[in-house]
Amino acid sequence: MVKLHPKTSFVGKKQMYLPYCHSTNDIASEIGHKGGFENGTIVFTDFQTAGRGQRGTVWQGDTGKNLMMSLLVDSSFLEVGKQFDLGICMAVSAIEALKRLGVENATIKWPNDVLLGTKKIAGILVENSIKGNKLHFSVLGIGINISQMEFIHPQATSLHKEGYSLINRNLLAETLCEEFETNFINLQNGISLEKKYLDNLLGLKKEQLFNIDDQLVIGKIRGIDNQGQLLLESNHPKKAFGIKEISFVFD
Ligand code: BTN
Repeated sequence: MVKLHPKTSFVGKKQMYLPYCHSTNDIASEIGHKGGFENGTIVFTDFQTAGRGQRGTVWQGDTGKNLMMSLLVDSSFLEVGKQFDLGICMAVSAIEALKRLGVENATIKWPNDVLLGTKKIAGILVENSIKGNKLHFSVLGIGINISQMEFIHPQATSLHKEGYSLINRNLLAETLCEEFETNFINLQNGISLEKKYLDNLLGLKKEQLFNIDDQLVIGKIRGIDNQGQLLLESNHPKKAFGIKEISFVFD
């Protein structure tokens, strides 16, 4: 039994620890659909048998070596078009939590991967339930690789593999809950997290190569628009890109 003690007022107050499960996002989503859930409920596990990543990918991890957690929040204050704000909120919170624990050089790769150098240490999967033109509830799943040393995907890495001494998983989870709560309250109060996001965004205003429609394009990231699309300065006629329309060459 693992119990977390975050210093928060609602995030992580209600928690469910499972030694293993199919996917913490699926479990949090089931709780959301039942109705009457406690805002800020967290579900976390040592091992997922069917962990899910963005765009239908699989998220795998060795037992007990990584943080795998989902937060269930009331997101009914957000319009459907603003759902990207939740990914920003989680990405910024992950960066801040890592900084508090001594990991200073993590960056966000648009839209919301967390990297050390060009390698991925954390991924975020946000799934929303919608009511009318507003969100209803959202599940924000995050996987942070802590001590796993071998990965199938060459771009994946862990904090320990990148040279950090072992970070306590529960402490990381608690710190993340605390940072997330602060940022989520700001979001609820209409305080933008965009500056924090851009301050930590990999490659902002730096010339780099992108893959657009199977062509290599040199461009500079200018920022994001209010739907979270990537704004690019380049010779390409299109200036704002959705997730399926552009990729980084080191992907
Ligand atoms: C990505 O593709 O980068 C997103 C990965 C998200 C993984 C986390 S682990 C906890 C939660 N449960 C899941 O099934 N996925 C997310």
